[in-house]
Amino acid sequence: MNVFAPAGPQAENIASIIWVFLAISVAVYVVTLAALAWALARTPRQDDDSPGTSRRLAVAVGAATVLTAATLVVLTISSEVAGRGLSKPSGPGAITVDVIGYQWFWDFRYHDVTPSDWVSSPNELHIPVGVPVVIRAMSRDVIHSFWVPELHGKRDLIPGFTTETWIQADKPGVYRGQCAEFCGHQHAKMAFVVIAQPMAQFREWIERQRQRAVTPDPATQRGHDVFMSNACVTCHTIRGTQAGSRIGPELTHIGSRRTIAAGTLPNTGEHLLQWVRDPQSIKPGTRMPANHLSDDDLRAVVAYLTSLR
Ligand code: CUA
Repeated sequence: MNVFAPAGPQAENIASIIWVFLAISVAVYVVTLAALAWALARTPRQDDDSPGTSRRLAVAVGAATVLTAATLVVLTISSEVAGRGLSKPSGPGAITVDVIGYQWFWDFRYHDVTPSDWVSSPNELHIPVGVPVVIRAMSRDVIHSFWVPELHGKRDLIPGFTTETWIQADKPGVYRGQCAEFCGHQHAKMAFVVIAQPMAQFREWIERQRQRAVTPDPATQRGHDVFMSNACVTCHTIRGTQAGSRIGPELTHIGSRRTIAAGTLPNTGEHLLQWVRDPQSIKPGTRMPANHLSDDDLRAVVAYLTSLR
């Protein structure tokens, strides 16, 4: 995560304002300290108390005050210009994504005219390259903050209130995002990835995400049955099955995601097994409780989840 490696117009704007402020601050600091050093080092002279010296001093202080005021005006104007650049989208063709914060994961929802085509992609935000993406940010519990340093500054997610911002990625890539507002015990383990891809690939991805979950085959049927007959269904949705609860992240395509537990672990079978067996050991305080499934049942559930691509 690096604000000095901007990958989009808003982040570029922010990086340049940081450089302007830094350059001016360093210059002011160096000049001020140099003046102080000179004042301390000079030997007092006989005519220091003369009226002529006082007049010269008054002129010098006056000039320094004007210079200070001018510097502040320049900083204010550059800040205002950068702020205006941030508040506007940089081009047409925007898509809108709802960003919903939970303790402690993210849900990214893509609307569609057909409600059954809505897509939920927990902890993984896919965006097309080169077009502005409207972020509608909200929270279901406490204040969180959406932050992808390579793409934009922070935007708070506030319960009961929708905030809006824009992001745009100009080059394809995977950018890490992080919750930037302390939101409880597992605030640090509330990360996500932004995957910026060419429009054609993005369309392909969203088309796949719209599909219902794959029907279990003989190898994954047992995992499906264990999932549906245990507590898993009380929190999760797998579209196309009877699991339809929205307390935890949707799992319809969990097998296709890169990480689990909001960016905490890479999504491998072994990690998924550890997670399902005892989430509290990986993320103490998470809403997902430990379960008492047998080892065989656990492995069957993980095999089923992994197949949901
Ligand atoms: Cu959510 Cu910190």
